[in-house]
Amino acid sequence: MHTTEVAAALKGAKHVAILTGSGISAESGVPTFRDAQTGLWSQFKPEDLATPEAFRGNPKLVWEWYAWRRGLIARAQPNAGHLALVELEQRIPEFTLITQNVDGLHQRAGSRNVIELHGNINRTKCSEEDLPVTEWKERGDPPPRCPRCGGPLRPDVVWFGESLRAEAIEGALMASRRCDVFLSIGTSTLVQPAASLPFEAAEGGATVIEINTDVTPLTNHATFRLPGPAARVLPELLRVAWPA
Ligand code: OAD
Repeated sequence: MHTTEVAAALKGAKHVAILTGSGISAESGVPTFRDAQTGLWSQFKPEDLATPEAFRGNPKLVWEWYAWRRGLIARAQPNAGHLALVELEQRIPEFTLITQNVDGLHQRAGSRNVIELHGNINRTKCSEEDLPVTEWKERGDPPPRCPRCGGPLRPDVVWFGESLRAEAIEGALMASRRCDVFLSIGTSTLVQPAASLPFEAAEGGATVIEINTDVTPLTNHATFRLPGPAARVLPELLRVAWPA
């Protein structure tokens, strides 16, 4: 296990960049993106619901799927992996946490400098104006309507085929290119542009570490791989780097 080498790299780092995927929320009970959906939603694939076409075709179904996921997330707690990243942020001079997750668990754990590449399921916006909506009246069939223009409301997340907010991806690229150490945690490294970030970091000369229970397209290119669940590997890594 390369925990000792990784701990040494972290201790000497000036700028650490982190990329997380749904794997870091798995131990909080939030199904990973490619986990089989449960219960009522098992007949659907996320890729068939998280799209502008699906919302246009059946806004009620898509709104209710996100409402179900919001309920799941509201009952979830940040886990030891999220909390270890909060401690790491306090120990490193410059720290950028880039997440593909929309569950907001990093912020609930106490992380401060978070770039949400794919948005946040707990934020809602008007699908016509593309502007945030914080209050609305639940009247008739979902989705609720924008109090300003009457357009259907939608979750403020990036759907398949939609582009990421420019400042999010620019900030993520800059941090990935400038950091000394890059940790890729709990992501299948399949979805662009997030999947290119660890490779950008390697290009920039960073030590790239992958923490995952499985192998991914990054595994053979990473400097070190720490196999296992993030909720165990991350706290262990911090204990080795900064023994109590
Ligand atoms: P995936 O479900 O594709 O991948 C989850 C990754 O986490 C896999 O590589 C698992 O091996 C790993 N994993 C599972 N449990 C873990 C654990 N306890 N500790 C560490 N690793 C674990 O989810 P993402 O990679 O996040 O985008 O998916 C990326 C994007 O694909 C999502 O943000 C979503 C989807 O398209 C949008 O919705 C735009």
